[in-house]
Amino acid sequence: MPNVSRERLAQLAAREQERFRRDHPRSEALFRRAQGSLLAGVPMIWMTRWAGSFPVFVDRAGGSRFVDVDGHEYVDLCLGDTGAMTGHTPPSAIEAVRAQMERGVTLMLPTEDAVWVGEELGRRFGLPYWQFTLSATDANRFAIRLCRHITGRPRILVYNGCYHGTVDETVISLEGGRPVPRRGSLGPPVDPALTTRAVEWNDPAALAAALQRGDVACVLAEPVMTNVGIVHPEPGYHEELRRLTRRTGTLLVIDETHTICAGPGGYTRAHHLEPDVLTIGKPIGSGVPSGALGCTQEVTERILASLVVRDSDVGGIGGTLAGNALSLAAMRATLAEVLTEEAFARMIPLGERLEQGVCGVIEAHGLPWHVQRLGCRVEYRFRPDPPRNGAEAAAAEDPELDELIHLYCLNRGVLLTPFHNMALISPATTEADVDRHTEVLGDAVRELLAG
Ligand SMILES: Cc1ncc(COP(=O)(O)O)c(C=O)c1O
Repeated sequence: MPNVSRERLAQLAAREQERFRRDHPRSEALFRRAQGSLLAGVPMIWMTRWAGSFPVFVDRAGGSRFVDVDGHEYVDLCLGDTGAMTGHTPPSAIEAVRAQMERGVTLMLPTEDAVWVGEELGRRFGLPYWQFTLSATDANRFAIRLCRHITGRPRILVYNGCYHGTVDETVISLEGGRPVPRRGSLGPPVDPALTTRAVEWNDPAALAAALQRGDVACVLAEPVMTNVGIVHPEPGYHEELRRLTRRTGTLLVIDETHTICAGPGGYTRAHHLEPDVLTIGKPIGSGVPSGALGCTQEVTERILASLVVRDSDVGGIGGTLAGNALSLAAMRATLAEVLTEEAFARMIPLGERLEQGVCGVIEAHGLPWHVQRLGCRVEYRFRPDPPRNGAEAAAAEDPELDELIHLYCLNRGVLLTPFHNMALISPATTEADVDRHTEVLGDAVRELLAG
């Protein structure tokens, strides 16, 4: 198997950085100007992590593409890290949003759309009762609070390497088997080991040991890990997770925010999971801030039985704008007309095409890499076998190679999700978009191995 020479990698990285700067003078000028008004020159600090010495500034986006302020057009396989999995500005959602804006944005009162969306989410995911939020982070935060409230238990359990948004309890990782604040955690309110147990994915014995004391309110899990690359559950793991949570009276919260890529009812419907609570956000409002959490009949009854309605506005679950008319109109249009069964029937085969393209590049060059897919989400990694858990996935990271591939693609009009090599398909993505990525990846590898 060929090994990538570090010297060649550094040479190419320097060349690509130079090209990036040369090609993006307007983005660079905006980035410099922003140093005077934005912390670190960006709207959110993590935007400094894009490959390239500054982020490209966007002029406009539509469908599967966007154009930057220097006039370059990109095939967008990042799609706002799933926030734009609908494609940018899908016409039917934009029309519904425009119409709703003219009829009122936020009122602290329900609209008919809320009922429609609750019914549709129930049909898709099999959970009957829903609440709405403005983000997946909030859906997870509120789910955790509700689980603590009805079980009276103090802790939660998450998986090493997980990401569920900026939820304090989940910013944790395992180091040498010990739970610690995740690297980079900014000002944790308390040591997360006090609130949270963390175990490795695909390790039923560790899960059983962590739940047996009976002090865990809920397990919060993506049904397939997607934030350390794609890490599938091993056969039988979900059955064991459900059996152990039921046996110990622990609630199971499944976060479908990314795994909605598996199909219209997410991984939950595709694999007949039976969560007590389900959370989702990002794409369900076509980019308009939206999120939701759904509960079973039993969980709902337990919540209602212990709810003091008079105090429910200050009970730690809410948000003045949560459930607003605009976000519900966006969710309705997205579910009715954008992320439909027919759309997934197009998107998933395109995901397969992307997977085959990457696989072809890996095989043609005998690279010690692999590619994974979940529905219309594809991810490649620089190790021969798929990792089994977060620790194995983290150990396989190769930041220099990762950055070079991202920058090489960016310089040739293809945007991959930052932080890992993730590519997502929207209903607007075409075969030509997918093939462009395969072609550019093939060129990158050829140049890397030519050194
Ligand atoms: C699985 C999962 N859940 C929740 C979130 C949080 O989403 P948001 O940042 O939109 O609140 C993310 C964000 O990446 C995620 O990957």
